[in-house]
Amino acid sequence: MPDNELSLPARVVAIANQKGGVGKTTTVINLATSLALDGHRVLAVDVDPQGNLTSGLGLRGRRAEGGTVYEALLTDVPSDACLLATQVANLTLIPADRNLTGAEIELVSMPAREHRLRRLLEPLRDRFDLMLIDCPPSLGLLTLNALVAADAVLIPLHCEYFALEGLADLVGTLRRVRGGLNPTLDIEGVLLTMYDERTNLGQLVARDVREFFKEKVFNTIIPRNVRLGEAPSHGIPAVLYDAKSRGAAAYVALAKEMISRHAA
Ligand SMILES: Nc1ncnc2c1ncn2[C@@H]1O[C@H](COP(=O)(O)OP(=O)(O)OP(=O)(O)O)[C@@H](O)[C@H]1O
Ligand SMILES: [Mg+2]
Repeated sequence: MPDNELSLPARVVAIANQKGGVGKTTTVINLATSLALDGHRVLAVDVDPQGNLTSGLGLRGRRAEGGTVYEALLTDVPSDACLLATQVANLTLIPADRNLTGAEIELVSMPAREHRLRRLLEPLRDRFDLMLIDCPPSLGLLTLNALVAADAVLIPLHCEYFALEGLADLVGTLRRVRGGLNPTLDIEGVLLTMYDERTNLGQLVARDVREFFKEKVFNTIIPRNVRLGEAPSHGIPAVLYDAKSRGAAAYVALAKEMISRHAA
């Protein structure tokens, strides 16, 4: 048991940005694995119909006893029937597959449609130290469910093109969620991803983001690193696939920074 253990019940963090390909899934996979390797009990939750978190953890097409997050959100299957063990000790997954595509529409007519994920995760809170939710690239009902279930949101920002474009929509959504569905939703932090220090653009974007989000920006920056891109095709988190790579080291550092922020 690590001496810097987070207090119970689990802290729930949604990794969200409606922009596609900014590193949401890569962050969930490698942050979750780093935290689990450090002894924290982590639940990774895939709420993206693309199922990239599930396949990146080597569990593509796998279902828990009660099915996937689709059944979990749309039926009354008990929460613990949706848990799937991963190859990493201390890391558990609620998987997703393509069926989830329909959920966005099917949820619309359900009672408490924005609270389905919260209801699913609530009974599991005392079994984990942290839950990380991988959101799809949209601000639809699935992301909304994640923001309602979460204590905080972690926003990955691609350090290259138009990083701040569209951010007003995300910030507006967070404000609306705080105004009603989840008044205590916090910003866990803003994470600069795919940073290429050789380009001026990367440095300029990083400066702009820090000006806008100030101390909310993590000190740890995730570099553009080929190992982070390769690892998912092997179904192995990069922090295990090549622990010495710069990308892996950055995610290990991010896990430490996140924990130390809460210990402070
Ligand atoms: N730091 C990085 N360096 C190099 N490649 C990366 C890095 N982070 C992510 N990638 C690769 O970039 C692509 C997009 O990353 P990822 O899937 O994590 O983004 P995402 O925000 O989850 O995308 P989506 O919005 O489609 O869910 C993936 O192929 C991933 O392997
Ligand atoms: Mg993704």
